[in-house]
Amino acid sequence: MNAFRTSIFITLAAACPFGAQVFAQASKKQPPPRNAPAAPPAPMQRKQSAQRPQPQQRPQTPPPNARTPQFGDPLPGLTRRELQEFNDGKVEFENVETEASGLGPIFNGFSCVICHSAPAVGGGSVFNVTRFGHTTNGVFNPLTSLGGSLLQEREINSAVHEVVPPEANVVAQRNTTPLFGLGLIEAIPDAEILRHVKRRPVDGVLGKVSQVQDVATGRTMIGRFGWKAQIATLLTFSAEAYVNEMGITNRLFPVENAPNGNAQLLSEYDTVADPEDTLDARGRGDIDRIAEFMQWLGAPPRLPLTPNAIAGRGLFQSTGCANCHVPVMRTGQNRSASLRNKEVWLYSDLLLHDMGTLGDGIAQGTADVRDMKTAPLWGLRESAPYLHDGRAATVDEAIKAHDGEAKAAKDRYLKLNQRQMDQLLEFLGTI
Ligand code: HEC
Ligand code: HEC
Repeated sequence: MNAFRTSIFITLAAACPFGAQVFAQASKKQPPPRNAPAAPPAPMQRKQSAQRPQPQQRPQTPPPNARTPQFGDPLPGLTRRELQEFNDGKVEFENVETEASGLGPIFNGFSCVICHSAPAVGGGSVFNVTRFGHTTNGVFNPLTSLGGSLLQEREINSAVHEVVPPEANVVAQRNTTPLFGLGLIEAIPDAEILRHVKRRPVDGVLGKVSQVQDVATGRTMIGRFGWKAQIATLLTFSAEAYVNEMGITNRLFPVENAPNGNAQLLSEYDTVADPEDTLDARGRGDIDRIAEFMQWLGAPPRLPLTPNAIAGRGLFQSTGCANCHVPVMRTGQNRSASLRNKEVWLYSDLLLHDMGTLGDGIAQGTADVRDMKTAPLWGLRESAPYLHDGRAATVDEAIKAHDGEAKAAKDRYLKLNQRQMDQLLEFLGTI
């Protein structure tokens, strides 16, 4: 089970939320050509089947058939209209943008799917994006005026190429996360998340919410998406990723990123009028359709529990993992029956924890430099490499890198015997 999949460790930069700049670093394998933005993206680098676990190591995978849910399926029980929205949104999610349609001037990918592809459309990938900033006496500065904290490492013309500026003394990679089941996570009420904040440390675990001002709704909400829980709603994430990863301005984010903050350069190369995401007769743009695709995207399918996995489930509790990786939360009221009062088996409290040495050194919103959101563990068997920067090729390595509030649980994991470790990992391969 430890050999889930060897990561290819391509370090491509993708941008992410909060106007920080991300940059991609040289990818070792078929990087999309830097100066050919209008060309279709390089074929997606799907994880190779050779890197998947051997069938005999897998806990009884049921044969695929129409009734077995698969990664990438829509939520079960959608209405005809919701299913239509899922399908229309998926087209937009896969759509390849060009210079003429507003791509760039600086960007990280031509489409959402170029990064969110494995093992199905809407999944993750081995691609990373880069964030940078400057820390003095523990205070993080995102270097916004120099194009930070997210680097856009690709461009429509080499004249606008963005780099990590010399002023940066923190550079961090962010691995692409899968989007399966995010509509369910969005539908979890804030109160349900707040329940898990502890007043006093339990086993060293405290946890705090990420409080954000949501751009789409204008409301103060609990952030739950991204490695730092920096975004609260799918519509805001859709719009943020559109402008920061692809350079497509939209009604929520109408301002282009200037290459390393250089407004003069931007005005020379930004030829498409903003916002580039134009609205249809109903006042809706691509950002709405893409958000709908994510909203209706089903949760990762679970595998049947083997006797070993059942034993591993007990160890997951007794080792203290479940203090943060809360197995299940519930959605609340919702317009859609597919999202209303549903159990969400996400294995996360959606809270920020001080992870000590595992923190990435970047502050975003409420999240300080050592804080990271508890990563949901559902679908783990298909989401290697692991941790925020993809440093861990296996689940075992990911657990061993835990620190800070998770140190007690990590130490207990290290004391398990080999058989118990295997059981725990087998369990994690089914969720
Ligand atoms: C260049 C690669 C890249 C592209 C292109 C890209 N993303 Fe991402 N995506 C990432 C990375 C990396 C993360 C993790 C970022 C973080 O948390 O800082 C991420 C995270 C996300 C998340 C949060 C997932 C979670 O579980 O919390 C959403 C939602 C998302 N992306 C949607 C999109 C959409 C929609 C598009 C297209 C408009 C898009 N992404 C384009 C790389 C990419
Ligand atoms: C204090 C809270 C906390 C505890 C306790 C904890 N974790 Fe985590 N876990 C996290 C956070 C936060 C992350 C994301 C860390 C990062 O990438 O920087 C994470 C990430 C992971 C990942 C990688 C997920 C991915 O998609 O990359 C795995 C696997 C994991 N934890 C398993 C475990 C197991 C097994 C235990 C018990 C031995 C455990 N964790 C205990 C908070 C915790």
